[in-house]
Amino acid sequence: MLRYIILFSFVLCLDKAHATSQTTDFYTFALLSDIHIGDTGANALGRARSAVTKINQLAANVSTNLQAVFITGDLTNTALPSQFETVRDVLNNLTVPYYPIIGNHDQWLYNSTWEDQAPVGDQLFAETFNRILNQPNIINYPNGTVWNPVHSCQSWFQNYRIQLHNNSSSFIALDWNSRHHAAASLGYKGSMPGADLYDFNGGTFSWLEEQLKQLEKQPSTIVLLQHQPFRAPFYIPGEIYAFGESKRLRIEHLLRQFTSLNYFGVFAGHFHMWSDGKAFDDMPKFRQFETDACKVAQAIALVTANIKTGEIVKIEKMYGDEPTLQKRFTDNT
Ligand SMILES: *[C@@H]1O[C@H](CO)[C@@H](O)[C@H](O)[C@H]1NC(C)=O
Ligand SMILES: *[C@@H]1O[C@H](CO)[C@@H](O)[C@H](O)[C@H]1NC(C)=O
Ligand SMILES: *[C@@H]1O[C@H](CO)[C@@H](O)[C@H](O)[C@H]1NC(C)=O
Ligand SMILES: *[C@@H]1O[C@H](CO)[C@@H](O)[C@H](O)[C@H]1NC(C)=O
Ligand SMILES: *[C@@H]1O[C@H](CO)[C@@H](O)[C@H](O)[C@H]1NC(C)=O
Ligand SMILES: *[C@@H]1O[C@H](CO)[C@@H](O)[C@H](O)[C@H]1NC(C)=O
Repeated sequence: MLRYIILFSFVLCLDKAHATSQTTDFYTFALLSDIHIGDTGANALGRARSAVTKINQLAANVSTNLQAVFITGDLTNTALPSQFETVRDVLNNLTVPYYPIIGNHDQWLYNSTWEDQAPVGDQLFAETFNRILNQPNIINYPNGTVWNPVHSCQSWFQNYRIQLHNNSSSFIALDWNSRHHAAASLGYKGSMPGADLYDFNGGTFSWLEEQLKQLEKQPSTIVLLQHQPFRAPFYIPGEIYAFGESKRLRIEHLLRQFTSLNYFGVFAGHFHMWSDGKAFDDMPKFRQFETDACKVAQAIALVTANIKTGEIVKIEKMYGDEPTLQKRFTDNT
């Protein structure tokens, strides 16, 4: 009984003029986040498959005009090759093109008895999604690793850009993930969960600056896609789990330098919750929307945008089978 998808659809209407019945003026894209394949505690694989089925159902309805799926990080739980292969196989079942964005869990390979010497998850990510990331519609994807002086390692920053609909929509996928090792003295494996700027040649901050310069020449709605949201909830220390104040403000400063650009804002994941807020105090129109975790809530968001202007007019949350609901059902029987 509880197997069927509970379609909880609260709609954020972002445009006063709102969507008319002329659906051909609009297209949609889906957001998935925090799949965590390899997390055996959660039914990560089952929920990922179920999310794929749900998205394919949406895509089968031509009036949805679903054109892309963006996955905002943590596709794997501990970046193991088998996890990358599994998640790719599951996502390859999507009937619309999908674009993966790397998260902190995808950075450093480990299992219960072993851990890799260096954070080479980015290279494995690049290898796994090589076919997608080298498609002709992917712009400015780096061709390999650069020296990362922040963490003294080679890093392949998984940054890229996609333009849709005659350049009316610009999507910028960003890799801010820390490559710093988590506190080993506390028994942690893998990398720190937070973000770094990488303000050096080939690093994410400089790469973003270059994209913004290029986008000044064309009118479009700019959407950033990344794992960690710029602003963490007040009860979570951003410095450790996301950006921290000084990094967040430096990004705000960079974005604000390009006064002619039309930003929608950022779509992120990471904190395993739905959130709709603002990333920066002095950019009130720049939104920060977070999608809940696929592995927990089987969450999917569906975003509707205007084909001609790229303007985002609607975000719908779609919950899957809620684990708490399922648990309560089981307890009662
Ligand atoms: C297809 O999508 C449209 C627009 O969202 C909706 O009105 C319609 O009911 C859907 N059709 C089916 C068969 O689900
Ligand atoms: C892909 O879809 C097919 C058909 O629904 C299914 O049999 C297969 O198990 C799916 N593969 C994965 C990896 O989910
Ligand atoms: C962990 O990975 C190492 C290296 O690949 C392997 O030798 C070991 O068997 C793995 N341990 C478990 C529990 O899977
Ligand atoms: C990658 O690109 C850089 C500059 O864009 C170039 O110097 C380098 O040779 C390229 N590397 C490979 C392996 O193609
Ligand atoms: C694409 O955009 C350009 C201006 O940015 C416009 O002149 C052209 O008509 C558009 N083409 C289509 C097919 O909409
Ligand atoms: C989109 O913009 C790029 C430059 O960023 C340009 O090379 C390309 O031709 C444009 N595409 C369309 C369909 O206008």
